[in-house]
Amino acid sequence: MASVATAGETEENQERQHQKSGHKSLLQSDALYQYILETSVYPREPETMKELREITAKHPWNIMTTSADEGQFLGMILKLINAKKTMEIGVFTGYSLLATALALPDDGKILAMDINCENYDLGLPVIKKAGVAHKIDFREGPALPVLDQLVEDPKNHGSFDFVFVDADKDNYVNYHKRLIDLVKIGGLIGYDNTLWNGSVAVSADTPMRKYVRYYRDFVLELNKTLADDPRIEICQIPVGDGITLCRRIK
Ligand SMILES: C[S@@+](CC[C@H](N)C(=O)[O-])C[C@H]1O[C@@H](n2cnc3c(N)ncnc32)[C@H](O)[C@@H]1O
Repeated sequence: MASVATAGETEENQERQHQKSGHKSLLQSDALYQYILETSVYPREPETMKELREITAKHPWNIMTTSADEGQFLGMILKLINAKKTMEIGVFTGYSLLATALALPDDGKILAMDINCENYDLGLPVIKKAGVAHKIDFREGPALPVLDQLVEDPKNHGSFDFVFVDADKDNYVNYHKRLIDLVKIGGLIGYDNTLWNGSVAVSADTPMRKYVRYYRDFVLELNKTLADDPRIEICQIPVGDGITLCRRIK
């Protein structure tokens, strides 16, 4: 006979389940997250994004991909600001890149960077199939030297409508120092993972996965840097693993 869980046990069980799904759901319950996906996200997800999401699901580092609800959010933001020239740091198999490319007009451009092109190669056939590959200028290698090069030329200053940063968290503050010159006044920078699996709000001695612990201090430092920066307005969005949207105002 199955034992009946007490209210306390059920809650504890749900919490454990929720912990397991980690990263991609900061909501109160997995059921609520599933409701959002099934009601508002999956039914409106373009066929090619679904295909890329399913290919990525088989990748051993699938945890790195942008979630479908975050992809939908990015698409909406890009359309709201009429973005045309954008940048992405951290491509992986290209889910957020495809969301961006689909949201831009036909003559839109995305400068996309990743230290690894093998994962991008997995997604590229789907991006081509979606008819948006011509918008993407993919550069393999670390992003920081590319940003330094861009900053050197004043023509690039204030030229980007939107930048999505989803890469090495230990460099986010360095990226911010450069991106603030490259994004236009009124333009947006989105920093991903700023709630870092919820670890930003627990004490340092709480048990956490090794990689979560390693990057936690960098994310905490970034969040403080952004909150203190008078050149931007900010908004912390609890979608995915947390995105901080920064609107350049000066
Ligand atoms: C979380 S994943 C990006 C997920 C991607 N936005 C998506 O939608 O699937 C982080 C990516 O950053 C890349 N990366 C790490 N360090 C980097 C660096 N210094 N410059 C550029 N890319 C980097 C990694 O190779 C990895 O593909």
